[in-house]
Amino acid sequence: MENYWYPIALAKELKKAPKCYYLLNQKIVVYRSPHGIVAQKDSCPHRKFPLSAGKIVNGRLQCGYHGWEFDDKGFLTEVPGMGTQLNSKCSMLNTYSAQEYEDLIWVCLEENVAFKPYQKDLLKDRKLYSFKTTIIGDTADILENFLDPLHTAFLHDGIIRSKGKRNLTHAEIRAIPHGVEAKYTEESNQTGLIGNLFGRNITHSFGRLTKGNIIDLEFHSKNGIDMTNRFIIVPTQGDENLFFSQITFRKTFLPIWFKYAVVSPFFYIALQQDKKGIKQQLDNKHHFKEDKLRSTYLDIMKPYIDRMLNQEELKVIEKDIEMHL
Ligand code: FES
Ligand SMILES: [Fe+2]
Repeated sequence: MENYWYPIALAKELKKAPKCYYLLNQKIVVYRSPHGIVAQKDSCPHRKFPLSAGKIVNGRLQCGYHGWEFDDKGFLTEVPGMGTQLNSKCSMLNTYSAQEYEDLIWVCLEENVAFKPYQKDLLKDRKLYSFKTTIIGDTADILENFLDPLHTAFLHDGIIRSKGKRNLTHAEIRAIPHGVEAKYTEESNQTGLIGNLFGRNITHSFGRLTKGNIIDLEFHSKNGIDMTNRFIIVPTQGDENLFFSQITFRKTFLPIWFKYAVVSPFFYIALQQDKKGIKQQLDNKHHFKEDKLRSTYLDIMKPYIDRMLNQEELKVIEKDIEMHL
């Protein structure tokens, strides 16, 4: 998973000071330099002082302990007290690839990897609402939760859908570049609060999983794509994951800020329910380590999530099924 690009922060979080983040159990320091975003190991090669506790001086990262300075390639450029000009020949500070893109700061834990996340660009002409939080849980369970439509009528009863009034839905599972998608049709009779407010005109929707733990939910009406919701799940350290959500709406007679203002409290409630459930699942997984999971054909995405996290080929089996959502 190390050669994927992952977002680690909202771009607006990163101001003048260097900041510490965790990505795939690595502790990294991230800052803005005149050459762009820089991500490096958060440990001074001199005495392991955290470099994120230092500051940026003339575009370089200065350690807060003895003042060693490093440039954006990890070369040592200054040792206070030495009195001579330094001319270091090699980089001594691990430097990763980093980039700002679509409101987020992205990092790849390998050096010099060209920026190529696998997902499609978000709709360029739309305002993006980006949001970040932390979720404690198994990364596979989190991915499954946000792709799985079947729990929405149950765990989120009354909010997204209602468990009393299910609709027959067709799901078409297809391979896509670097991932898998499910297309759901006949969702026009959505029941819960969000469904009632925003699902009325929806003709079909997509749930996509792309390498790099990216989930795209896309809701279509006769007029085009009404709403997109991208979720990115980033393992940081231990059982902690970052969760990014990026939402866009189609422009209609209702202002977009208004749609976001109306819908976000419901998303927030649903997210709290998911967070709580995922944490309970994790606790139980620790408790019942040996037990195998049982699935049915309705659990469309689970095999692909597991293969993706294991760095295996996805081997998508294309098929059409029916379910009652
Ligand atoms: S520990 Fe960083 S300069 Fe000494
Ligand atoms: Fe959920």
